[in-house]
Amino acid sequence: MNHFLDIHKTDASDLRQMINEAKRIKTARKGQPKGTPDAEQPLANHMVALIFEKPSTRTRVSFDVGVRQMGGQTMVLSGSDMQLGHGETIADTARVLSRYVDMIMIRTFEESTLLEMAEHASVPVINGLTNRTHPCQIMADILTYEEHHGSIKGKKVVWLGDGNNVVASLIHAAGQFGFDITISAPETLQPEAGFVAWAREKGVRVNLETNPQKAVEGADLVVTDTWVSMHDSQTTKERRHNQLRAYQVDDALMAHAKSDALFMHCLPAHRGEEVTSSVMDGPQSVIWDEAENRLHAQKAVMRWCLGK
Ligand code: CP
Repeated sequence: MNHFLDIHKTDASDLRQMINEAKRIKTARKGQPKGTPDAEQPLANHMVALIFEKPSTRTRVSFDVGVRQMGGQTMVLSGSDMQLGHGETIADTARVLSRYVDMIMIRTFEESTLLEMAEHASVPVINGLTNRTHPCQIMADILTYEEHHGSIKGKKVVWLGDGNNVVASLIHAAGQFGFDITISAPETLQPEAGFVAWAREKGVRVNLETNPQKAVEGADLVVTDTWVSMHDSQTTKERRHNQLRAYQVDDALMAHAKSDALFMHCLPAHRGEEVTSSVMDGPQSVIWDEAENRLHAQKAVMRWCLGK
């Protein structure tokens, strides 16, 4: 049994195997109606708990559909409806859930909640996003890049905007999959220094470039995300927007990247804020493939967690 807690906590060879497996799983389903079960049913007779302490569209639906297509069943639980939200400890919740279900996916606020769940669960626990990281999203992003342009190794990936939980996992992926990453954000919204140091120790280039035009020069992949995350206070919204306006991804900025560069956004997007509609809906955008690939990548993650 394996927990999938973070990209930097998982062996690089296992991550590579999951991406290859996701490609195989996606190919095997090509052209099938959504309700068709997968030819392989590794989750037959398995029950998976999907716990959400924050809102979700993609994570919730892609995990639910993925488990069902692999033959399993799900229960979607809201943190506030459980005793977890009323004082029962995370450790006790983990012990109890482990008696009912075969795997737990949790989206939560504090990383400590995820880690305590994993420490005390006797079934695999998957990180469906915390305030600090979002590894399932980045597994889908690697799959998406590679199905369009081949191996991501040695490529230049550029992140524009807030140094949030998504870029944290992207930095981890740079270290594990061997690509260079440039982060273009104001001084006050840089990613965690420890994550940057970790990736540099793995031997990849991590550049911090506050000028967005310089950052995007020669990029193979341009990525952005909302300027205000779910856990950020709404009172910071106006200040954030003022700080990040120069980092909006528009056609002029994309013109600094390679002509065949891809554009990604994990969604939900705020059109006209961090990215223009012309980029989102333009020829370099692969955002709908990226959303779909949550399904295929997470199937590979779940199979790895269960040793299947
Ligand atoms: N990208 C992502 O995780 O989307 P949701 O918040 O809708 O799950």
